[in-house]
Amino acid sequence: MSSAGVWVTFEGGDGSGKSTQAALLGSWLEAQGRTVLRTREPGGSEVGVLIRDIVLHHRGDIAPRAEALLYAADRAHHVATVVRPALQRGDVVVQDRYLDSSVAYQGAGRVLDAGEVRELSLWATEGALPDLTVLLDIDPSLARKRLDADDKPFDRLEAEKEEFHTRVRDAFLALAAAEPQRFLVVDATADPEDIAVVVRARLARLL
Ligand code: TYD
Repeated sequence: MSSAGVWVTFEGGDGSGKSTQAALLGSWLEAQGRTVLRTREPGGSEVGVLIRDIVLHHRGDIAPRAEALLYAADRAHHVATVVRPALQRGDVVVQDRYLDSSVAYQGAGRVLDAGEVRELSLWATEGALPDLTVLLDIDPSLARKRLDADDKPFDRLEAEKEEFHTRVRDAFLALAAAEPQRFLVVDATADPEDIAVVVRARLARLL
């Protein structure tokens, strides 16, 4: 998105280590003297927290198109009230998940049309796209072992079968291949510090 700031998003399956990498990048940027906004989807705004509770914790099914619209509504409000103002101030926005998650989870996972899901989010955000998207790629069965070790209850999406998560992974890789200038794909099983170094090197070109 063209403005004074820089916008980085982290994508990947559940248990791929996005939050760890976002935190490492945020601290590094602050040490460089940059003002950093750490945020996430779903749930990066007050309205978003309410929507997050529905999409992740509602007991029972949500129709796939309703689920896609809920994520898009969260995104619309988040970009308009949190992300865009921060970028206009010149901040670096470091964000867990964005529209690529919708294309992968609601598109490939829930089997909606990927192009339509993407268009829905682009409409919701007036076409906002990050400067850099880091995809933490991991085999879903390995990611599942990490989540099991965490000992937290699974949310609605995490509880999906392995085959769902394999489709999501393949969709993320296809998105990255289609937009190599926006994406950096890293092996999420590598040492977290080594991953952080690769991410910084790529970001340094944008700062
Ligand atoms: P997140 O909070 O990133 O959970 P985790 O840290 O476990 O990865 O995301 C919550 C869930 O929401 C995750 O399972 C992916 C899903 N999701 C979608 O299905 N579509 C979307 O557009 C987004 C942003 C997330």
